[in-house]
This record gives sequence, structure tokens and C-alpha cells, in this order.
Amino acid sequence: MSTSYEIIDHAYDVVVVGAGGAGLRATLGAAQAGLKTACVTKVFPTRSHTVAAQGGISASLGNMGEDDWRWHMYDTVKGSDWLGDQDSIEYLCKHAPAAVYELEHWGVPFSRTEEGKIYQRAFGGMTKNFGEGPVQRTCAAADRTGHAILHTLYGQSVKQKAEFFIEYFALDLIMDNGECKGILAWKLDDGTIHRFRAKQTILATGGYGRAFFSCTSAHTCTGDGNAMVLRAGLPLQDMEFVQFHPTGIYGAGCLITEGARGEGGYLTNSEGERFMERYAPSAKDLASRDVVSRAMTIEIREGRGVGSGKDHIHLNLNHIPADTLAERLPGISETARVFSGVDVTKEPIPVLPTVHYNMGGIPTNYHGEVITKKGGDSDAIVPGLMAIGEAGCVSVHGANRLGSNSLIDLVVFGRAAGLRCAEIVDPNSPVPETPKAADDFALQRLDKFRHASGGTPTAQLRLAMQKAMQENCAVFRSGDVLSEGQQKMGRIHTGMTDISVTDRSMIWNTDLVETLEFDNLVGQAYVTMDSAANRQESRGAHSREDYPDRDDTEWMKHTIAWYEDGKSIIDYRPVHTWTMSNDISYIEPKARVY
Ligand code: FUM
Repeated sequence: MSTSYEIIDHAYDVVVVGAGGAGLRATLGAAQAGLKTACVTKVFPTRSHTVAAQGGISASLGNMGEDDWRWHMYDTVKGSDWLGDQDSIEYLCKHAPAAVYELEHWGVPFSRTEEGKIYQRAFGGMTKNFGEGPVQRTCAAADRTGHAILHTLYGQSVKQKAEFFIEYFALDLIMDNGECKGILAWKLDDGTIHRFRAKQTILATGGYGRAFFSCTSAHTCTGDGNAMVLRAGLPLQDMEFVQFHPTGIYGAGCLITEGARGEGGYLTNSEGERFMERYAPSAKDLASRDVVSRAMTIEIREGRGVGSGKDHIHLNLNHIPADTLAERLPGISETARVFSGVDVTKEPIPVLPTVHYNMGGIPTNYHGEVITKKGGDSDAIVPGLMAIGEAGCVSVHGANRLGSNSLIDLVVFGRAAGLRCAEIVDPNSPVPETPKAADDFALQRLDKFRHASGGTPTAQLRLAMQKAMQENCAVFRSGDVLSEGQQKMGRIHTGMTDISVTDRSMIWNTDLVETLEFDNLVGQAYVTMDSAANRQESRGAHSREDYPDRDDTEWMKHTIAWYEDGKSIIDYRPVHTWTMSNDISYIEPKARVY
């Protein structure tokens, strides 16, 4: 068994891991600030999962009617079911318009209104005047907004001379006495190992949707940064909150944008009924995603699903003029044709709630700095480490994210991280040396899996985990079902001692990559299941049938969970109920009515 690897050393002011919207925006910001910046990514930047974001990016531009960042803030706090940190939400909503104009000026080809302004569409939960009625706040580049943003940010980052390390798989953080000093990575095309020393390391590694069987996420969405954080002995936050998007294509899981309902699409059951009118009389099909996903699940459970198995729902777009569909929704029209054989101008699309987004992740403040609980300080900064985008839990989405608040989260907090680096990183100081023990830690794990010679293929264990998460940690949960899920996860963890990797090479060894990714997913799946079993209330996307009410007295707090030897250790942090300024005061919890 080989344990000796030659390590190629690099030194940077800032190392960003991940090249999605958040990673590229932070890379661009740090490079613009004159910092020596590297972006290390396991896929080519424009293939990062942000490319799949469809419907748009929220910002109170007011191009389609009056709007105000305070209304956006109110909607986001309410959408979060009062678990979001209100200082972070204020930061997000206040800075959103400037962040979108910045993208426009860099070249994002937004769709336009007749007057040439950025086109904005309606999205779920976005309202005017503190919940009075719908507002069109979601800025769109047809239904390929993420694609447009990603390509623009990559071009701008290259222009700023940021250095890209493409198809490098990050193995582990380099930690030294509680401080992060970089990462160790494996270069997939030639098998070499690289040490990236850095004054600040920014994790922008996305979510872990692939812990579930059916999701809208790319196969690469394995939450590698979250897993590195768990292995570094740091906690993840609010992992029980997993968003199901109401309209994944039945059987395939591909996303059909909420923008389809924003343009007038609606859901029907087997009786042809627009059932959302019963569940959310005011917002109807544009209620927030947790509400719509639960309503669809109830319709199916009560026998009103469509299809021979009565196990899905119809999304109707065929009443929308064909030229509007071609102009505003060309991407999903093609996706529906390819993945469900449907012509959207004539027939409904078969859809089902599908895992789409992880509200939980690495806890941070609104500068992107990673925080942990240490002694009496529940906001203690982890020196040298930042996290942004879906990997981070800043926490603006709390228990439930509003559609189109993800893309804006990426660019606002990617920008914030770049600004923070400009403030705290001294380009003239030496890049810290790193301890050998950190290299050994990462390489021993690599070797353990590279030489694993058990009898169970990774794919078999991964499928068992994905099914356990899908069946036992779903839209509706209960103590019994979660407890069964915990037992299944326990068996999967034990089963990992018998894992089999057949390819021992270091060049394009996809068997090993998938095994390392699976190991990353297992820790996250574990803390997700345990955090869900622990939270005895219903809030946002976490819906407990045995605890159907939100309990603000006991549970208006963030879960933080560490993972050690197949066990979660759970604690809590208070929700930030304070705001940044006097422009808006604390938004009091109340019932969510749609
Ligand atoms: O439905 C969508 O286009 C997805 C947007 C989002 O998750 O923000």
C-alpha cells in the first residue's frame, strides 16, 4: 500500500474551492483587490452546477412595478419561517440591486422589457408592501439565468488574472490549531497531489443533493466542502432543512423552473382541479416551495395523483401563447420534450417534488467567515476559513429558501467574501507554512479508499444511502420513519468497512473519485437524518407529522451538528433576530398565510 506521494506546493493570498456562481464571484473580487488568487475546481468552471439555474435572480429593481428591498427582506424572513438570520437577510436584500447591476455591466445578457430594462418575473413568496400581493422581482435571462451568469463571471475572472486549477479534486482542509491554512488536492488528469497554502481559504463547493435518490442537482453535487469541514472537527448548521422543488420532471428529476408558474403555469390533479387554490387561496401556485411540495404530496397520498400509478402531478403551460413559451421558457420546453416526451404547447408536464437545495451548510457570518461555537461564543470565527453559496449557511434561507434567492445569495456573499479578503489579507505578508500532520491526514484517507479491497462496490452502498434519505427524510417526516432512517444510515456506515475500489491508479480514477465523494455524502446524510430526528417541530421544509406546529418557544434556534466516528453531536446557536441597521426592525414571527 503506497502512502508516499510527492506534493507540489503552491502559495496564494486567497484560494477559492469551487467555480460556481459564488466561487467565481469571490475569485473575481479577491483578484480585483490585487490579491494573488487561485480557484481550484473539480469541473471546468462553466460546467459548475450554477449553469443549471433557470428562473432567475431576485433583486428589488422595481422594473415591473414598485419594489423595495425592505419588502424583499420581509418576504425572505417569512419564507425562512423565522429561522433566517435577520442581519444577513438585510445584507442580502439591501445589496441585491447593486450586485445585479454589476452583473449587467459585466455582460450578463438579461431578458429585456419593452423599455430596455432588465425583465423581472413573478416567483413564489415574493410580494409587495409586506405581503400585500405578488411582485415581479426575479431578474431573468430567459430560463437560462445561471448559465448566463456563470459564463460572464468566468470571463471576468480570467480578465482579472485569477489563476484556475481545473479538474483538481479537493481532498481536505489543512488545519493547524483550529486555523485553516489551505487545502490538499488531487489533480485528476495526471494523478499528482497539490498543496495550496493560503491566507484565506474560501469554500464554494455547493450542496449535497446527491445524498438523495431523486434530485435536480448534478452528479457532482456531493458537498465536498461541507464534508471537509466535518472532518476538520467543525459543525454544519441546519442540515435538517432540505428543499424539495415542486416541479422536477417525473422519473428524471430534471428541473422545470418555478418561472414556468411565474409566467402563468399551474398545477392540476387527476380531477383536473387547480388544487393550490385550496391550499394557498391567495398565492396559489406561487406559494413558497415547501407549501406547494406538501400540497402535491397530499394530493398524491389521497389518491388524486395523475398517471397510471397516480403518483405524480401535472404542470400545465399549454394555455400560454407559444411565442411567449419560446421567448421566456425555451430551456424547459426542450427539457420537457427530451426527458418526458411532452410538447409543452399541447400537453401538461408530469412533475413531482424533487430534492433541489440544502438550506443547511457551513455556518458563517455575513462576511462569509466560517463560525463555530466555542465556549460561550456561538459566533466564534474560524481563522483563515470562509464559506459561501450553497455550501455556506449564512443563514439567509433559514428553514426554507425562496426561489431566485439562491443566485442572489451566490453573488452578494461571493462579493462580500472578496471584500472581506481585501480588508483582512495583507498581500505583503508571507503565506503560512503548514503542518505535515495535515498532509498525512488527507493522504491516509485517500490511501484507505484507493486500496480498499472489500466486497461491496461503492455504487451499491451509495444507492442504499440515497434510498434511505429519499424514503426516510422526505417531504413529510415522523419520529418512527426518521428513527428507521437512522438505523439504515448506521448499517451503511458499518458497510463502508467492506467497500471495494477496483482501480488503484491515480489518473482519471473515477472509481476512487466516486468513493471519496460517497464518503463525503455519508457524513452529511448522517447529520441530516440525525438533525431531522432531533428537531421536534415543523418549520419551513422540515415537516414532522408527529409535531405539526412550529414551536418558537423551544425551537427558534439553529441546529449545529458535528460528526465523529459515525455519530452526530448536536448543539444549538441562537437565530440572529437583530438587523444591521435601523432601516428595518426585527420582523416578529407569525403564522405563514399564503
Ligand atoms: O425554479 C427555478 O428556476 C429555480 C430557482 C431557484 O432555485 O432559485
